[in-house]
Amino acid sequence: MKSQLAGAAVLWLAASVALAQSVVQPTGIAPRFPTAYKELAQQAQPPSNNWLLDANDDTERFRRLQLVAGGTDIPMWEIAQRYEELYVAIQNNNWEMGVYHWEKVRDRMNTAGMKRPARTQNIERLFLDNGVWTSMHDALTSRDADRMRKQFLAVRQACMACHVAERVAFLNDSSVFARTAAFPR
Ligand code: HEC
Repeated sequence: MKSQLAGAAVLWLAASVALAQSVVQPTGIAPRFPTAYKELAQQAQPPSNNWLLDANDDTERFRRLQLVAGGTDIPMWEIAQRYEELYVAIQNNNWEMGVYHWEKVRDRMNTAGMKRPARTQNIERLFLDNGVWTSMHDALTSRDADRMRKQFLAVRQACMACHVAERVAFLNDSSVFARTAAFPR
């Protein structure tokens, strides 16, 4: 009896710690679909957090996934983040971290082309197949700090040239390009 009580006390303590740790409280506001997405009104199930499982069929599930996966913008977010980590890697002479991010940048460029095939030509012509990608990879594996730095700045130019070619030159004002414009001496 005593140990059961102790057990219950431990459980109660664990539950209240878990509760205390959650900062997200339920609001009680009724769920509904965004008015911008009229198609969702066709769902037989009421709106819930099971936004995929509660869809009427797999076609609708894939349509929702495709919508959420975005086009070029979400991959570019990831590419820009990894590009900046490459910049950090080069400053630290951490060529392995640089290669790690650089290979994922290539993969993400290719999935971006899969999602937006009208961008594939520029992805390959201005970045993946014209020597820019390979020269950066070679510079990293050479472990030559000066070569890495020089090549990184050529990569930066290639990113920006593609934005011009894709008619989004205004994006060259993105803060990531200002942060990576030069290497501290
Ligand atoms: C196909 C050529 C192409 C290349 C190469 C390219 N970009 Fe982009 N980038 C785009 C396009 C197109 C967009 C706009 C996407 C859209 O309209 O949804 C974009 C968007 C961006 C954005 C804004 C993302 C957002 O919505 O927040 C950033 C930042 C960016 N690119 C950084 C880079 C960096 C860094 C590189 C080089 C490592 C690079 N890009 C290489 C075409 C390219």
